[in-house]
Amino acid sequence: MLELSTVTVTFNFRALPALSMEIITAKKSLSEAIGALKRQGKTIGFVPTMGALHEGHASLVRRCAQENEITIVSVFVNPTQFNNKEDLDKYPRTLDRDSELLRDLGVSIVFAPSPQEMYSEEEMQERFAFDFGGLDEVMEGKMRPGHFNGVVQVVSKLFRLAQPDRAYFGEKDYQQLQIIRRMVEVMQFDVKIIGCPIVREKSGLALSSRNERLSEKEKLTAVNISRVLTESLDYALSHTVAETERRVAEQINAVEGLEVEYYEIVDQSTLLPAADFSHAIGCVTVYCGPVRLIDNIKYPAR
Ligand code: PAF
Repeated sequence: MLELSTVTVTFNFRALPALSMEIITAKKSLSEAIGALKRQGKTIGFVPTMGALHEGHASLVRRCAQENEITIVSVFVNPTQFNNKEDLDKYPRTLDRDSELLRDLGVSIVFAPSPQEMYSEEEMQERFAFDFGGLDEVMEGKMRPGHFNGVVQVVSKLFRLAQPDRAYFGEKDYQQLQIIRRMVEVMQFDVKIIGCPIVREKSGLALSSRNERLSEKEKLTAVNISRVLTESLDYALSHTVAETERRVAEQINAVEGLEVEYYEIVDQSTLLPAADFSHAIGCVTVYCGPVRLIDNIKYPAR
């Protein structure tokens, strides 16, 4: 059987010796620090996060630290990308624990602003609008109207502040990654976007901050998502895109406790429905109890 092309990990945050790390909460202080680093000619790598860090984030930070002299991580639960107030309120905020982990990973600066520091009153209310060229009209964009506007709003602001040479994003949020690539093109940011493979538990479950909200029983149930996706690689060898989409949705829905919101096999660049498997990725959103999980799988070209 073909394998999911992902990294399986054991939890080990203590990979690098502790270094001095600054926690900055004010935009002005961050700009001053960046100015000084730029004058010294340092290369800057950036990992934007919303905190509640797990090994998936750690893999981004490790890669960033390997490829850049300075690693900056933002920890900011961005209110403008939530369509649901309850979801925003429930989002885990664990800055003390996150900072400890980041120190051990060799991070130089943690930027952890408050919402008031990040946004003026008007920005908080305004409907930030960005031309996504259709990338936001499918899958997550369709299910969560306005979500990607909020993501672009905050990431563009963070890029202007941190002025990174490279920025690191996980492929689990595949649509977000493609949208960030488009944003960089349209807004002409001088930054290289690096997509990093999904990190999974040994069971296959894709790591996510939302997994913290799953009970042990739900976690066992959720493992079926990656199992069905992996099995679909074989199935796709002798079936069409439409048949494979149907099969994956049916197989996941057949597991008690799982409910598919969508499974779409799309082109890896345009995110439009794939005509065949030559450059295709399957993206799924599944409710496991009340928790909304996403995952994806790339189909090998043939
Ligand atoms: O992927 C995330 O955690 C967020 O969408 C991001 C990129 C940090 C923007 O808030």
